[in-house]
Amino acid sequence: MANKSKFQAIRGTRDLLPPDTALWNRVEQTAHEVFTTYGFDEIRPPIFEPTELFARAVGGDTDIVSKEMYSFPDPPEATEGSRRFIDAVVAIGEEESTSEGKTKRITIGEKHLPELYRLQEEWKKSDLASLRPEATASVCRAYIEHNMQQMPQPVKLYYMGPMFRRERPQKGRYRQFYQIGAEILGGPDAPAIDAELIEMLMTFFDKCGLHGTELSINSIGHAADNCRRGYVAKLREELLKVKDKLGADSQRRIDTTPLRVLDSKLEHEQAIIATLPHIADHLCDDCKAHYAAVKRELEARGVIYRENWRLVRGLDYYMRTTFEITAQGLGSQNAVCGGGRYDGLVELLGGTPTKGIGFAIGEDRLILSLQEGGKAPAAQGPDVFIAWMGQNAYATAIRAAKTLRNTGFRVELPGTELKFGKALERASKLGSRFALILGDNEVQSGEWTLKNLATSEQQKLSEQALLEYLRR
Ligand code: HAM
Repeated sequence: MANKSKFQAIRGTRDLLPPDTALWNRVEQTAHEVFTTYGFDEIRPPIFEPTELFARAVGGDTDIVSKEMYSFPDPPEATEGSRRFIDAVVAIGEEESTSEGKTKRITIGEKHLPELYRLQEEWKKSDLASLRPEATASVCRAYIEHNMQQMPQPVKLYYMGPMFRRERPQKGRYRQFYQIGAEILGGPDAPAIDAELIEMLMTFFDKCGLHGTELSINSIGHAADNCRRGYVAKLREELLKVKDKLGADSQRRIDTTPLRVLDSKLEHEQAIIATLPHIADHLCDDCKAHYAAVKRELEARGVIYRENWRLVRGLDYYMRTTFEITAQGLGSQNAVCGGGRYDGLVELLGGTPTKGIGFAIGEDRLILSLQEGGKAPAAQGPDVFIAWMGQNAYATAIRAAKTLRNTGFRVELPGTELKFGKALERASKLGSRFALILGDNEVQSGEWTLKNLATSEQQKLSEQALLEYLRR
């Protein structure tokens, strides 16, 4: 017997269903509208990219890259990796002429084997692809690939779509989730740019009807000994002193990513973290001035913020301004947006030195917070349900449905004839506002019957009068 067990969506993924999808559409439409008024255009990068792109951009030691990516082998047809591998083999092998025509044998000495294994590993890695865990890396890749540095700078792009991270699912945390993000690439790194981007975000949340958001900002300086690198060294030193009081994750991070210890939510680590040095006291003069100017620019725009020296973000590409926005009704996963400046990233990905800043909103969380705040739209029924009786009336009903739909009304036309009582019952169940009743009488007289299902009022109207009445 065939196996008839039912299927379920994979853990951490879910179906977005009506009426919620109406809210998703409304939020996305608001993003298109608000971002356009700030001069952004939409980009739609692919959903999978070379694994190496994310490893290099987001950082090999981050949770995202080391644990959470969905990766799979995807060797290109004429594999770049295999060509490089063969070139390398030819280069280290010693050629030997043979008697078999033009063939040449390449002998590889045992001493070359470690190098060959290394090349093979590299080749395998170059043929791996990953579902995107975020889109900033993709946007930078596209900026370089399409020579966007030749366009008027800065280039302002936004995107929306699914991202994939293999995290432990919980409320507000999914393995397939959706982001709405924006990036500004090229041009200067004027603090006004940081502030305007944040202003746009807050305007967007406001237009969505999301209230009670909180914006936190910080500056994590730049990678130099007299700035972040110096601070990280100092932080590591201090962390080593209290190492045995820290949890396993934080202990590991002392070596790999000490800044991330500041992100810890572990109750018993909070008092220890509170005593650690603050990055603001270790920024170089330029970064300090930039941060002060960002705050002034935010104030000039009436944007209310809170400073949080522990806001370091979980991706390696950030420098200077970092920010996060929390929303209400989300429980522990309350960050609804994260972003920051990443001036070195385009260069790291093989482009010319380019300034960059951006953010990504967690759309699932934004929707959840709107729903918790009572902003969910009710299920929408048809505007008009056409109750037709008899074949003559059916032809008129088809025409009426077409006209009403062309005018923009939501119309339900039953595909089989229903008895009068049944038709009205179905119309009410669907939540229709009106029933248009079409029988032989209506067709002959040209006066159609329209019933308001909320008030039960009924009136006779010509086709033209009915359209005008409904439009009003
Ligand atoms: P992120 O902080 O990793 O930053 O993600 C941004 C937002 O995506 C989070 O604040 C959260 O709302 C949402 N999010 C992340 N993971 C999940 C998940 N598993 N389930 C549901 N929502 C999630 C970035 O992705 C950067 N690319 C942002 C950026 C753009 N920075 C500069 N430009």
